[in-house]
Amino acid sequence: DSGQHEGVIRTETRDGVGVIRLNRPKALNALNYDTMVAVVDAAEAWERDESISAIVLTGSEKAFAAGADIKEMSSKSYTEMYQSDWFAQWQRLTQVRLPIVAAVNGYALGGGCELAMMCDIIVAGEGAKFGQPEINLGVIPGMGGSQRLTRAVGKAKAMDMILTARNIGADEAERAGLVSRVVADDAVVDTALQIADTIAQKSRPAAMLAKEAVGAAFETPLAQGLTFERRVFHSLFATEDQKEGMAAFAERRDPTFKNR
Ligand code: HXC
Repeated sequence: DSGQHEGVIRTETRDGVGVIRLNRPKALNALNYDTMVAVVDAAEAWERDESISAIVLTGSEKAFAAGADIKEMSSKSYTEMYQSDWFAQWQRLTQVRLPIVAAVNGYALGGGCELAMMCDIIVAGEGAKFGQPEINLGVIPGMGGSQRLTRAVGKAKAMDMILTARNIGADEAERAGLVSRVVADDAVVDTALQIADTIAQKSRPAAMLAKEAVGAAFETPLAQGLTFERRVFHSLFATEDQKEGMAAFAERRDPTFKNR
């Protein structure tokens, strides 16, 4: 499978991993409506396809994404924004159960930073820049930045970034807990593919449920989250992959998971 969705993204699959590359280079991958729909459709299709176990989302060397498409939005009225619930479809991406690895080079600003934060793991190049500059446009983050950035880096840095529009580099982003790994710019996509490939070797339902359990940490009180985790843990004993994984350990061999 290899496809182009009216040019705004490119997709390919390799060995259990679906790759989405944002492809609006002239606009630094600004996230217009068509891009949102294309990204979400691709991710949802792979969730339904049991041969795909993880997703990599990336942009170009210069920009992961320089934000929501300002030119597409600028003349819209309040009524249009509200009636269409502008950006609401991004919610669908966060409901995709497959692990998603963001490979970030260059600018991840505004909606670009927010899109990276919708993913589960962020690999950043040394030259990556993260920021929420919406205040410079007379607005605020609209794709989750005020919530996800605050949960990721805490109030102090989130307020600093959102109120002043200050960008942070990859190292600061890693120190703050926004980014999982920082690597050389030219190693970003390969590293993300390796991470996704590693995940794709695991039991697919176990990886999906692990994602769901970590996600629950942001949605539930601790006691409820711990109960949820334990119930999911119990339920995995209904899978062949649990039997295989534990048998392989005892037999000192690598497991061969059936559902991967
Ligand atoms: C539409 C964009 C864009 C964007 C860049 N472009 N970002 N178009 N929406 N978010 C376009 C430029 O207009 C330009 O098109 C081309 O991409 C190249 O950009 P340049 O500015 O010429 O490049 P450069 O000088 O290298 O500067 C890069 C940059 C700058 C620092 C990233 O482009 C920039 O500041 N972009 C906006 C960043 C931003 O504010 N993002 C937040 C958006 S709001 P032309 O046709 O002139 O060549 C958001 C959430 C909104 O994401 C939520 C509330 C509603």
